[in-house]
Amino acid sequence: MTVRSKLYEGKAKILYATDDPEVLLTYFKDDATAFNAQKRGSIEGKGAFNCAIASHLFKQLEVSGIATHFIEQTSSNEMRVRAVKILPIEVVVRNIAAGSLCQQTGIALGTLLEQPLVEFYYKNDALGDPLLTVDRLLLMALATSEQVNQLRAMALKVNDVLKAFFLQCGITLVDFKLEFGLDQQRQLLLADEISPDTCRLWNQTDDDPQQRVMDKDRFRHDLGDVALAYQQVMERVLKHTL
Ligand code: C5P
Repeated sequence: MTVRSKLYEGKAKILYATDDPEVLLTYFKDDATAFNAQKRGSIEGKGAFNCAIASHLFKQLEVSGIATHFIEQTSSNEMRVRAVKILPIEVVVRNIAAGSLCQQTGIALGTLLEQPLVEFYYKNDALGDPLLTVDRLLLMALATSEQVNQLRAMALKVNDVLKAFFLQCGITLVDFKLEFGLDQQRQLLLADEISPDTCRLWNQTDDDPQQRVMDKDRFRHDLGDVALAYQQVMERVLKHTL
């Protein structure tokens, strides 16, 4: 596989074209941003930790019947993925109240939600990734109503699989963000990454609200030991399969 030009550089990853138009190469960086890039930093080893975690999780999801863009991990920081057109929608699934759900609704941090909550956000940095209603999403033609139903169903299935998987790892899956894309056959594939950058993960054996955090909230809120938490997630994830 020959790597060609850089197609896109995001906050945490770089996307390269390859000699196969249907295949791209994703490079995971150590760079970290939070609060719509108002906070910036670097977490040593993060790129490799996230690449290994995301690769392993995509494999678990594929085995469970969820179509993803993942092909294979090719080096510590790189994976080959199917080329897709990313929908400008961030799909968030929540099992426990945290983050913006608490800030915007007053629901207490740590409240167990009776059913998983699926939310859609507009992936638009200039607008600060606002929360969408389904009607707004359809008004803006970001997806068809059939695709919205499919996104919701896939997100809930991903949640079932990942919740069970992380449970085995001694980790509670609090919430996470997914991105989806359409391949050349217009099939909807789970894309981007699933990692401590995009999930809230709490250590089940720790009740302390700061100590238990094993995800990007350590970086967002200056809790320290960010790289160590990511490394611990990787070690636990790689030890388990569904
Ligand atoms: O900030 P909020 O509580 O809405 O985040 C919900 C989940 O989505 C968290 O796990 C967070 O890490 C993830 N997220 C993300 N990228 C964004 C926004 C949220 O990965 N742009």
